[in-house]
Amino acid sequence: MNNIQACLFDLDGVIVDTAVYHYKAWKRLAKELGFDFTEEQNELLKGVSRVRSLEIILEIGGVTKTEAEKEELATRKNAWYVDMINQMRPDEILPGAHEFVQACRDVGIKTALGSASKNSMTILEKINMVDLFDAIIDGNKVTQAKPDPEVFLKGADALGVAPSACVVFEDAIAGVEAALNGGMKVVGIGSPSVLKGADLVVSGLSEMTIERLRNL
Ligand code: BG6
Ligand code: MG
Repeated sequence: MNNIQACLFDLDGVIVDTAVYHYKAWKRLAKELGFDFTEEQNELLKGVSRVRSLEIILEIGGVTKTEAEKEELATRKNAWYVDMINQMRPDEILPGAHEFVQACRDVGIKTALGSASKNSMTILEKINMVDLFDAIIDGNKVTQAKPDPEVFLKGADALGVAPSACVVFEDAIAGVEAALNGGMKVVGIGSPSVLKGADLVVSGLSEMTIERLRNL
């Protein structure tokens, strides 16, 4: 049995499936710019910051833009995205997510959110999960993107827990690497062939139990 004292959760793809909303907004932007953006290409954007996502999309379309134009495009995409997440409801929480975060708290394990998204608070409010996290570190509080461990190290620090006593839950390879770079254990959410290096890979938080956590 280990001595895990804190669990740090990524948001998009772990607590909620917002990838579909990001996809719709980016696809609309690509269409306005005159090219297509596929669901497969959208996979490249998981865990990636908004600015970097835009750069990847522009590369896909073979389009060059100035910094000012890029800012305008990212703002436009975000407005569409925010319109969609403003409609989110608690029934969009992924299966088992609410239950597992609560189960951690029930046994005295601290909880934090560690997300690249600058829209994290809006989403947590819409799904009524703000109070389930002792600390919330989002895209507004970090300067380095995953796989840099900053977001998770700040979470551990805010909780007052050593990185070695933290477990990170992540669906993106960049996030798994960020956790490992921070000296934390990591549970991948998705496929073992993609999330290499994770201590355990499950298909979703519905597969997680405190016992499995204790045996990592
Ligand atoms: C991450 C998502 O959580 O947040 C990425 O996986 C997204 O797809 C990133 O680009 C930034 O999100 P936002 O809400 O700040 O545009
Ligand atoms: Mg994610």
